[in-house]
Amino acid sequence: MARILITSAIPYINGIKHLGNLVGSQLPADLFARYMRARGHEVLFICATDEHGTPAELAAAKAGKPVDAYCAEMHEVQAEIARGFRLSFDHFGRSSSQRNHRLTQHFAKALDDNGLIREVSESQVYSVDDGRFLPDRYIEGTCPNCGYTSARGDQCDNCTKQLDPTDLIDARSTISGSTNLEVRETKHLYLMQRSLRDKLEAWIDSKVDWPILTTSIAKKWLNDGDGLQDRGITRDLHWGIPVRKGDEPWPGMEGKVFYVWFDAPIEYIAGTAEWADANGLDDAAWERWWRTDKGAADVTYYQFMGKDNVPFHTLSFPATILGSGEPWKLVDYLKSFNYLNYDGGQFSTSRGRGVFMDQALSILPSDYWRWWLLSHAPESSDAEFTWENFQASVNKDLADVLGNLVSRVTKFAVSKFGETVPGGGEFGPQEAAVIADLGTRITEYGALMEAMEVRKAAAELRGIWVVGNEYLQSSAPWTVVKTDPARAQAIVRLALNLIRVYAILSRPFIPDAAAMMMAAMGSDDWTWPEDISAGLRTLPEGQVFTVPENLFRKITDEERADWQTRFAGVRT
Ligand code: 2FM
Ligand code: ZN
Repeated sequence: MARILITSAIPYINGIKHLGNLVGSQLPADLFARYMRARGHEVLFICATDEHGTPAELAAAKAGKPVDAYCAEMHEVQAEIARGFRLSFDHFGRSSSQRNHRLTQHFAKALDDNGLIREVSESQVYSVDDGRFLPDRYIEGTCPNCGYTSARGDQCDNCTKQLDPTDLIDARSTISGSTNLEVRETKHLYLMQRSLRDKLEAWIDSKVDWPILTTSIAKKWLNDGDGLQDRGITRDLHWGIPVRKGDEPWPGMEGKVFYVWFDAPIEYIAGTAEWADANGLDDAAWERWWRTDKGAADVTYYQFMGKDNVPFHTLSFPATILGSGEPWKLVDYLKSFNYLNYDGGQFSTSRGRGVFMDQALSILPSDYWRWWLLSHAPESSDAEFTWENFQASVNKDLADVLGNLVSRVTKFAVSKFGETVPGGGEFGPQEAAVIADLGTRITEYGALMEAMEVRKAAAELRGIWVVGNEYLQSSAPWTVVKTDPARAQAIVRLALNLIRVYAILSRPFIPDAAAMMMAAMGSDDWTWPEDISAGLRTLPEGQVFTVPENLFRKITDEERADWQTRFAGVRT
C-alpha cells in the first residue's frame, strides 16, 4: 500500500467556476484519488478556495459585502457545488485560514533567514479617494498613442502599445472612477528566485517522466529572456495575509499583505493542517504528509492543474520550498491540462459564456458531466465542448452501452429466474473468452489510470462495457433459455457479476451510477477485480438482486437545442 498525496489547483473565490475550470484540475484529481483509493492505497486529497488578491476584494465590493463575509459565503457555495459533482476531497480548505496565515509568514521568515528576500522601492499609482494603491489593470485612461479612451495601465487594447500607468492621459481608477491619483513610493519584498535557478533547473531536469506540456512550460520560463526573474511577493492591499516575519512584525512592511500567488500554493500544506484540525488530529498527522523528516519521505505527491498554473507550480512554489531550506515535500508528478473551449469560442467567466458548475447540475446529474468531461479531457491539445458531442456521448456511451446492458440483464434475469442469482449451468468457452479479454483490458485500464492518461482510460473503460454487450449479444440467453435453461442461467450469472465488476471499474468516473449498480446487485464488495475470473464469480447463487432504476436517460434533440440557446447568452 502506497501513500499518495493529491492536490488540485485551488479555485479563486470570486464566482462559480465553469466546466473548463473543473476539467482542468479538480475533476481529474478526483478521478485519480478515487482510483488510488479503489486500489487500496492511503490517499489524502486536498483542495481549497483561493481567497486573496484584488479580484476577491472587487467581487466583494460589487456584491456589497465585507470581503471576509463574502469569502465565507462563496466558500460554502463552492463546497456545495463540489459535493454536487462528488469531488471526494478529504478536505476543502480556505487560503484565508489561520493555518495558512501562520505557514505563509513562516515561509517568508525562513526565506529571509536564508538571505533570499530583498526589499525594493517602487513608484506606484495611489488613488487618494479609494485609499489604496492601484494595480495596473485598475487604472484606465486615454492612450497617448492612438487616443483610445479605455486604455489600461499596462496596455492599450486598441493599438496594443505597452504602457506605464503614468503614460495615460486623464488616468482614472476603475474602482471608483476617481481621477484623484498620484504616484507614491512604496516598498516591497522580492523573492530572489534567480539565486535558486540552478537548483530549480536540476530539479526539473530530474523529472524525466513528466508530461511534455508541464516541462516545456517550466523550461520556457526558466530560460526565456533574461531567465527566471526575482518576484515581488507583497502587495499594497487591505485583504490578504499580513506581511510578518514568522511571529514578528516586519519593519517597513506594516499594512501590506503577501501576494496571492505566494500564499495560494502554501495552502496545499495549510489545507492539510486544516484537515487534521477538522478531524481532531495532532500536527504529526498532517506533517507525515509534508515533512520528509516526519514520515513524508515515502509519500508520492501529485498535483493537478491547468497549463496557466504551471509556472507557479514548477518555479515559484518550488522556489519557496527549496529556498526555505526545510525538509518539505516537493511535487513528484505534475499533471497539467490544456483548455476546454465552449461551442466555437472560449468559456469566459467575465462574459458568463459557457456552462457553469451550478447550471450544469441544475440540468443533469453529475455523472453525465463527469463522463463527458473526463472522456474528452484536454490532454494533448485544447478540446471543445459542443452540445452535439455531449448529447451523442451521453446517449451512446452511458445510455446505450452501459445503461442498456444493466437494464437488459436485470430485467431478463428477473422475468425468467426471479430475483436471485441463478445457479444452473457452468461457465463454458464463451465465458472463458470474456474473462480472458477483460483480464487484459482491466490491466491496461489500470495502467492508464495510474499514468493519469484520462482520455485513454475512459476509452478503455468504454471498451470494457462493450465487451459485456457483445457477450450478451452473442450468447443470446433469450434464445438459449427456450432450449437450455441451465445454460441461460450460467450466462445470466456471469452477466449479473459483470454489473458488479463494472460498478467497481466505473466508480472513479461515474460514482453515483456505480453505487446504484452495486446496490442493485445486493453487494458492497468493492474489491478491485485484479483476478477477474474470481471477480466474475463473486455473487453467489441465491444472492438477491434488484432491477435498478434507469441508470441514464437520453438527451433529446429538443433539450439539446434548448440548452444551446440558453447557455449561449451572458450570465449576470
Ligand atoms: O488559476 C487559479 O484558479 C488559481 N486560483 C490557482 C491557484 S493554485 C495554487 F497555487 F494554489
Ligand atoms: Zn492605443
